Amino acid sequence: KKAEPLRIMISGAPASGKGTQCELITDKYGLVHIAAGDLLRAEIAAGSENGKQAKEYMDKGKLVPDEIVVTMVKERLNGLDSQEKGWLLDGYPRSSSQAIALKEFGFQPDLFILLEVPEEILVERVVGRRLDPVTGKIYHLKYSPPETEEIAARLTQRFDDTEEKVKLRLHTHHQNVEAVLSLYKDITVKVNGSASKQDVFAQIDDALTQLQEQKQGKLGTV
Ligand code: AP5
Repeated sequence: KKAEPLRIMISGAPASGKGTQCELITDKYGLVHIAAGDLLRAEIAAGSENGKQAKEYMDKGKLVPDEIVVTMVKERLNGLDSQEKGWLLDGYPRSSSQAIALKEFGFQPDLFILLEVPEEILVERVVGRRLDPVTGKIYHLKYSPPETEEIAARLTQRFDDTEEKVKLRLHTHHQNVEAVLSLYKDITVKVNGSASKQDVFAQIDDALTQLQEQKQGKLGTV
């Protein structure tokens, strides 16, 4: 019999490294990555009514209303792939109402990863961030430069990645973070997110390996 799949949440301030770590986690653990921000940007790109509404909030660094976000995330969690492989929820929940909604739908995480990064580092990370529209990979001009000239030439920047907008996003984060943390304190693992990308992953990898062993242990031995 197979152990139950992992169900993980990852949280942290804007540009604390959630997306970067999710790339490494999914590579190793094969979980389905569900990122609230990515789902919203896909709606914007598709030109949907939800996307149009969401963009107005994202432009101001505010939380997009629950009516849009909650349903979107729930549908992905209900997907067969998420049920079978396990999930890695990134950037959700960001308020107690979002957390409560999730619980009501029957989704409970095994572990809540919190990336801790000092504020002065966050602004530098945001301003230098670039994305590869072809692979979806996250780069940083200084810390994770593109591997080739070809990639460098096609990199794009997110519309909310300016110094002015990250300040608004940070403000929203500070307003909401405590309410969410208090709900998951018993399953929280705090990670020093200001180390190098590999060192941050090593901390997360330890916690996930331990969790996986616990889950397999529960099945007992034959
Ligand atoms: P979202 O897209 O989730 O943005 P965010 O939370 O601000 O987080 P980021 O994606 O900016 O950063 P990250 O932590 O993933 O960092 P990354 O790995 O890229 O949300 C955007 C907006 O959508 C919100 O403002 C809100 O309006 C809306 N929204 C989203 N979820 C919502 C919800 N649940 N409810 C309502 N509204 C919602 O790293 C950043 C940079 O640093 C990169 O360049 C990277 O290369 C570099 N880097 C990463 N790790 C390291 C390292 N260890 N050392 C050096 N550099 C590093």
